[in-house]
Amino acid sequence: MAGPGAYRLGDEEKKEILDVLESGYLFRYGSMDDPRFKKKVYTLEEEFARYCGLKHALATSSGTSALYVSLKAMGIGEGDEVIVPAYTFVATYSAVIFAGAVPVLAEIDESLTLDPGDVERRITPKTKAIIPVHMLGNPCDMDALKDIADRRGLMILEDACQAGGGSYRGRKLGSIGHMGAFSLNIFKTITAGDGGIVVTDDTGLYERAFAYHDQGHTPNRAGVEVGSRHILGMNFRINELSGAVALAQLRKIDTIIGALREKKAKFKRLIADTGGFSFRKLYDPDGECATLCTIIFDSAERAADVSAKLGTKTVDNSGWHVYANMEHVNHYLKSVGQPYGKGAYPKTDDILSRAVNLSVGVVDGGLGSAFGINIDSTDAEIEAAAAKFRAACGE
Ligand SMILES: Cc1ncc(COP(=O)(O)O)c(C=O)c1O
Repeated sequence: MAGPGAYRLGDEEKKEILDVLESGYLFRYGSMDDPRFKKKVYTLEEEFARYCGLKHALATSSGTSALYVSLKAMGIGEGDEVIVPAYTFVATYSAVIFAGAVPVLAEIDESLTLDPGDVERRITPKTKAIIPVHMLGNPCDMDALKDIADRRGLMILEDACQAGGGSYRGRKLGSIGHMGAFSLNIFKTITAGDGGIVVTDDTGLYERAFAYHDQGHTPNRAGVEVGSRHILGMNFRINELSGAVALAQLRKIDTIIGALREKKAKFKRLIADTGGFSFRKLYDPDGECATLCTIIFDSAERAADVSAKLGTKTVDNSGWHVYANMEHVNHYLKSVGQPYGKGAYPKTDDILSRAVNLSVGVVDGGLGSAFGINIDSTDAEIEAAAAKFRAACGE
């Protein structure tokens, strides 16, 4: 039960970890002249920024804290609204709420990501930002969302937590908006067990995010900077051990995604002519991470029947990630007068009731992807999974 990065933990991660352990220096800061300081987090940030084609990356304790410090850096707070999709992980909502703003939910479309038309309808004078979530490793319609943001003067924070290594029209996911946030938890394309990364090309936003992630300090501080801290931050730092694992994983990210794309293409080919469903819409088929294969059936009844035969669930029933299943979020939405509870976002309800996530690289019952293949599946295993799917569809 994990994401593709976890399947690829090996000698490279061991070597990086041992390097840190043998030096005995675990803190993310140190003197570049100190031979004990292996600067894994620092190198991870340098390499990740370069990978995204941006000036800055900031490693954090989680994807949740990456989202939170990004929102704080963007100046989002009390009295502001932030548009978020009705299908995402709870952290997208909680980061906005803890920043002091109100998440305004918008419908998804057949890509299972934000429906740009609905985003535009939900903009009010209080709207400050949009969070496109590249759900299940699939790029959002970034051209349309950027066009809306530019016309309406809004910021974009990409939630690329599920989409590390994906791209949209040649640009890395997370690098298209003002800021991007990634997760390194165990279900992601690359993992350090836990961890996150913020990216941006804007030095001011980077410095503010840095301060919020570490008690108000400036980037890569050498000590306690009494007298120069203007922002009250918290501790969302990552340490050298996590940095070491993430660094080794980053160097494998393109190989991991390449393998997933190849396996997904084969799996898709084998089930494509089974009737009664379509694959979800991909805004850039060449850029998706290929961690999941989402099927959208013609009816909710058929989706329920097929998923039950496969020992899995339709997406609306899969637990996390669906607004209607988040009692704490619904309680909050009710308290601020926002639509809440099943039926509040009917287009999302309809699509998710007809959708089934087949695993390709992320095997996670909480996403509804308890059935499918994984990054290590052999051709024979892919054929067997496809045959089981076809049989469940009544072929
Ligand atoms: C879309 C999305 N946003 C944010 C997060 C939060 O990441 P983390 O678990 O690293 O805090 C996740 C993690 O599952 C996610 O899937």
